[in-house]
Amino acid sequence: MLERLKEIRLEAAERLEACKDEAELEALNVSVLGRSGALTEVLRAMGAMHKTKRAEVGQAANALKRELEEKIAAKRKALSLRLAELKLLKETLDITEPGRLLCKRGRLHPMTLAYREIRDALVGMGFIPFDGPEVELDEYCFTLLNIPPGHPARDVQDTFYINESVVLRPHTSPCQIRSLKQLEPPFRVVIPGRCFRVDEPDASHSPVFMQMEGLVVDRHITLSDLKGTLETFAHAVFGEDVKTRFRPSYFPFTEPSAEMDISCTICKGKGCRVCKGSGWLEILGSGVTNPHVIENCGLDPHEWSAFAFGLGVDRVASLKYGIPDIRLQYENDARFLSQF
Ligand code: PHE
Repeated sequence: MLERLKEIRLEAAERLEACKDEAELEALNVSVLGRSGALTEVLRAMGAMHKTKRAEVGQAANALKRELEEKIAAKRKALSLRLAELKLLKETLDITEPGRLLCKRGRLHPMTLAYREIRDALVGMGFIPFDGPEVELDEYCFTLLNIPPGHPARDVQDTFYINESVVLRPHTSPCQIRSLKQLEPPFRVVIPGRCFRVDEPDASHSPVFMQMEGLVVDRHITLSDLKGTLETFAHAVFGEDVKTRFRPSYFPFTEPSAEMDISCTICKGKGCRVCKGSGWLEILGSGVTNPHVIENCGLDPHEWSAFAFGLGVDRVASLKYGIPDIRLQYENDARFLSQF
């Protein structure tokens, strides 16, 4: 029996040495210490032994059992450490590897670029930015702007109605009402914003478009204040050599009203496809504020006067950057936007 124990010890030591993983170790554990393992069998066979022999063999067998249990536990620990080490080695980063280049940088939208130029020109003349909602009261879009019921601008063919009294604003002019009601005169405001009209999209129409409104409220405002401001503005945005002209026009909320043209930025006034041969480009609508509007907002029209103007920011962007189709500015194709 003692011989057998020696054999078991030797064989176990050899196998332990050769163990490469957890599974092999477990197989060894079972085959020696398991229920029908080699050592267990020796222990079981001891019952049939002579008393003195049994004590001797028992001691040796139990000692071997303890020894093997310890060795297997130690090996198990060593194996798991090795495993963790291998895993860490696999996860090392090569910090000398060159990084990937970030070549897709975002850019400002041409409309944003155009608006910022317009805004900066006006802020330089004392205007402050103001804001109003895209979903607006019919009253602010029309009634208080002196646009009476039955006026073609109120037609559902032109304006998106949310319900009887709420619309998607068809222009930024309702912000004139909002600022007149909200701010203490005198003041000057510049108001950018998205507007909506029932329009079939084509090269020069989009059902959503970007306008910018300007309003100056003060005592003794005259048409020459309007002309001087808008000429300065046109030179700041389109260049010092651009020419301007004013044509009489009609808006219910201004009296008198005028449209401002600038000399064509493409052909410099000689006549081309963009200006349809006229040499002039229509750039904005404007006028001295109708006293009814001032009164509608709770101000005394004998004390306060104003002038207002509105333009298409997308149109300014088209002219400044030579964009032939307005829809390009609303489709936001990254290949188009990346050119600015
Ligand atoms: N709201 C007018 C339009 O959309 C433009 C305008 C604004 C005209 C202010 C006069 C004064 O056409």
